[in-house]
Amino acid sequence: MRRKLEQLNELRRLSELGGGEKRIAEQHQRGKLTARERLDLLLDEGSFIELDRFVVHRSSDFGLDREKYPGDGVVTGYGAINGRLVYAFSQDFTVFGGSLSEAHAEKILKVMALALKNGAPVIGLNDSGGARIQEGVVALGGYADIFLQNTLASGVIPQISAVLGPCAGGAVYSPAITDFVYMVRGSSYMFVTGPNVVKTVTHEEVTMEELGGAATHATKSGVAHFACESEVECLSKIRDLLAYLPSNNQEDPPRRPTEDPFDRADEALLDIIPDAATKPYDITQVIHHLVDDGEFYEVHAEFAGNIVVGFAHVGSYPVGIVANQPAVLAGVLDIDASVKAARFVRFCDAFNIPILTLVDVPGFLPGVGQEHGGIIRHGAKLLFAYCESTVPRITVIIRKAYGGAYDVMSSRHIRGDINLAWPTAEIAVMGASGAVEILYRREIADSEDPAARTAELQNEYAKRFANPYAAAERGFVDDVIDPRETRRRIISALDMLRRKRDTNPPKKHGNMPL
Ligand code: HXC
Repeated sequence: MRRKLEQLNELRRLSELGGGEKRIAEQHQRGKLTARERLDLLLDEGSFIELDRFVVHRSSDFGLDREKYPGDGVVTGYGAINGRLVYAFSQDFTVFGGSLSEAHAEKILKVMALALKNGAPVIGLNDSGGARIQEGVVALGGYADIFLQNTLASGVIPQISAVLGPCAGGAVYSPAITDFVYMVRGSSYMFVTGPNVVKTVTHEEVTMEELGGAATHATKSGVAHFACESEVECLSKIRDLLAYLPSNNQEDPPRRPTEDPFDRADEALLDIIPDAATKPYDITQVIHHLVDDGEFYEVHAEFAGNIVVGFAHVGSYPVGIVANQPAVLAGVLDIDASVKAARFVRFCDAFNIPILTLVDVPGFLPGVGQEHGGIIRHGAKLLFAYCESTVPRITVIIRKAYGGAYDVMSSRHIRGDINLAWPTAEIAVMGASGAVEILYRREIADSEDPAARTAELQNEYAKRFANPYAAAERGFVDDVIDPRETRRRIISALDMLRRKRDTNPPKKHGNMPL
């Protein structure tokens, strides 16, 4: 027995060395942690149970039979985050650059299948050069199997990806299908093909950082939801995210106890909104005053800053918040903002997370660039996402709610459950200057003093429409409230909607304008 145990321990030690000490040292020199060090940071201490540590690849092409490493470049298993079950895989760049072989794919697929069957999140720590070149189509097939499993698991269990090294090919497409993508500045890269191929094909010269670094994907492409300063921060942020999520789509997200009074009425809310409707302010200040303990977990913070999305607890209930941001482009809805918010709304809807929408929006962004870029199609994504969502939805119109953007931002008409407005709300087809220009152009031109007549007409229009009362008269908003009551009213609505049941007509799936 003892001899057999010694043999087992030696095999275990070998499997923990991955591609060997030299390559581990290189990994550290690049400022990167190893696959196992990452799992240690991600999961509750001592909770990780590894599966398939002895799996090796089955290929003999290109001399592969002379190079075999137990585990074959990925550490897989299950463990806990704050006591809740999660499944995880962590690719080991020291073994063939973390590249994906048939056996490596099978290991990932095994934990994904377990996660689906047992209803718990999957977290993928990606550090991989994509399909293992020496295995050819077998490796491509392995990635295709993972893409399929990612897709089938979408909306059933949360799927979270961290990209922690230079990732190419399948190693970027699998994360792209998952719900949230985290990257680390200076060491994470995502591209379909790297700078060398780009240079050959398009003659563009570009660095790894510019082409697919964390800043690029967090700000320009929107592929990454988070750009972190270090791997330690990244893994800790993933742990924090799970506090807002249920383990699967059949559960409600867990409530978090708080000492923050449910009836807290912040005077500060009266002073955040400037008197002039054209002046900007920061909507995150409003959010911080409304949520429990001022804690807001912002998602996609660096992308499409004109809309803010993220998670918080309000009255101990987890909520997803979607809020126009008047401090950036006056909070206008453009292509990127629409896509960002649409994806967030769909995530919340899939996982039973109530949506709180804070509205201050002048409309959709006009312009040739936006029209030619497809603002109609992309704006329709947000509309579609809100329309089909059946989770509890609470909307607070803070200031402007103009035009189609009023309809889109979870209005009563598209199944907003509780729609409130502050006395500063302005709900109309458009602002006073645009409306007067369209309706009275001829009359103004013919008047003796066009400037004075314009001001007079604008005042008249503003008096009629720049308020929430026309909407309240119709019951399109349920109440006009003192801003200090907002937190209490949101919590009361969440309580009231706790057992909400709403369904859409039976169908295979809708045809979202993708
Ligand atoms: C086999 C690979 C590999 C791969 C890297 N390695 N990628 N082995 N298959 N795909 C090996 C290297 O040979 C090397 O082995 C070790 O991993 C480290 O790689 P380096 O190149 O030295 O590291 P670095 O300079 O940091 O560059 C990392 C890299 C680069 C940017 C990822 O290796 C690279 O471009 N790899 C190929 C990327 C790619 O095109 N993959 C196929 C994608 S197609 P040694 O022995 O020296 O340590 C795909 C299909 C999916 O994935 C379908 C998508 C829809």
